Amino acid sequence: MKKETIHPVKALTGALQLPGDKSISHRYAMLAALAEGTSEFRHFAAARDCHSTLGCMKALGADVTINGTTVKITGHGLRGLKSSRRTLDAENSGTTIRLLSGILSGQQFTTKITGDDSLQKRPMKRVVTPLKLMGADIRPREDNFPPLEIHGGKLRAIQYEMPMASAQVKSAVLLAGLYADGTTQVTEPARTRDHTELALELFGAPIEKRGRTVIIHGMTSANGASSSASLKPQSLEVPGDLSSAVFFIAAASLLPDSNIFISNVGLNPTRSAILDFFIQMGAEISVTSLNAQQGEVVGDISVKSTTLMGGLISGDQVPLLIDELPMLAALGPYTEQGIEIRDAAELRVKESDRIAALVKNLQRLGAKVEERPDGLRVEGRSAGKLHGAEIEPYGDHRIAMAFAVAALAADGDTVIRDADCAAVSYPTFFQELRRLGA
Ligand code: S3P
Repeated sequence: MKKETIHPVKALTGALQLPGDKSISHRYAMLAALAEGTSEFRHFAAARDCHSTLGCMKALGADVTINGTTVKITGHGLRGLKSSRRTLDAENSGTTIRLLSGILSGQQFTTKITGDDSLQKRPMKRVVTPLKLMGADIRPREDNFPPLEIHGGKLRAIQYEMPMASAQVKSAVLLAGLYADGTTQVTEPARTRDHTELALELFGAPIEKRGRTVIIHGMTSANGASSSASLKPQSLEVPGDLSSAVFFIAAASLLPDSNIFISNVGLNPTRSAILDFFIQMGAEISVTSLNAQQGEVVGDISVKSTTLMGGLISGDQVPLLIDELPMLAALGPYTEQGIEIRDAAELRVKESDRIAALVKNLQRLGAKVEERPDGLRVEGRSAGKLHGAEIEPYGDHRIAMAFAVAALAADGDTVIRDADCAAVSYPTFFQELRRLGA
C-alpha cells in the first residue's frame, strides 16, 4: 500500500499524452476475441481494468500478446470461445464482469466469474434481469452479487426498456444480442456512452440506432451452430482517455500559472459533456485538431488557469458525467459558488461509495459539505481554504486522483493512502503529475 505525498504548487505546465481510453479498450478486446482472425490495437489502455479483461479473454481461449501498449488478439469466431476451468477474475472492473456476462450468456458452456472485494459488493441484478429475459441461466450470490455462475445457452431476442441509464447494461444486452435468435432492441432512458455500438459497427455486426433505441440482429443460428456471419478483426488506434484527462484539466484550471496541452484525447459526444461543464464554469479550454478516428472523435486540448464558477449537476447530465463527478466534487471548495450533485445515487455503488468517500475526505481537508442520499453539496471559496490532510481513497482510483488534485491547491502537504489504486485506470498518474510540476 503505497502512500503519495502531495505538496502544494503554483502551476502545472507542459504537454501530456494520456493512456488509451478504458471503455473503448474493454470493448475492442472483447470483440477481437469473438472475431475471426488477428486484431491489433495501438495505444491500448494501460488501465489495470482493461488488463483484467485481457486476462479473461485469454482464459476463454483467445490468443493475446501484449507489447507495450500494442495488443494483438486472435479470436476464433463467435463460437470460438472455450470454457475456462478457472473462475474468471474481473478484479476491480465492473465493465469487465457486466459486459462479459452478456457474451457468456450466449456460450454453450458454464463460466464462473468474480472479482475483488469491491466488485463482490457491486450489484449485478441490473444485467442479470435482462439476460434472464433472454433465456440465460445466471446464478449470482444472494441473487445480486459476484461470483456469477453463468450457464450459457440458447438466447431469444428481447425488446428491453432499461429502467436505468447505464452503458454497461445496454452493452451486456447488445453483446448477448449477437447470440440471440432474432432482433434485440434496447432503449435507454437517457443517453449513455455509445462505444459498444460504435465498436460493434466497426467489427461488422449488424447494428442500427433509432433515437434512444439500439437494434442488433443475432449473428448465430438458433441451434447454436455458427452461421456464416462473423465479426471481422480490426487494426485500430485507441484514443486517449478523456476521463483521465479530467484530473489534469481540473488541476490546470485551479493552479494560477498553469498551461497544459493534452494531445489525442477521445472526444466522443457521449463523453465530452465534462468539457461543456468546465467551459460553462468559466474554464479556459480550447479544443484543436478535431478529427474522426474509426468512429470515435479525437482532438487536442489546451487548458489555462482561470476562476471556476461551480454549479449544479443533475438529471440526464449525471450519466454523461458519471466518472467525472468525484473530480468535480473535489474541486467544489475552490469554486465561486460551490458544486452540487443531485440524482446520482448510482455513485454509491461504484468502485466505492463515492458519495461517502467524497464527503469524508472533503471534510478532512476542511471543506464544508452536506451529504445527501443521491449526491452532495460542497460549499465554494467563501467557506474557507482547504488544508492538507491524510486522504483515504477506499481503494477507489478516481477518489485517489481527485483528492491528489484538490491537495495541490491546499495549505500544507496531503498524504494519499493506498495511492497505487490509481493504476486501475491510470498507472502513471502520480509520475505525470510530478513531471508537469507537482
Ligand atoms: C462504463 C460505464 C459507466 C462508467 C464506468 C465505465 C463503461 O458505468 O461509470 O466507469 O465502460 O461502459 P455504468 O454503465 O454503470 O453507468
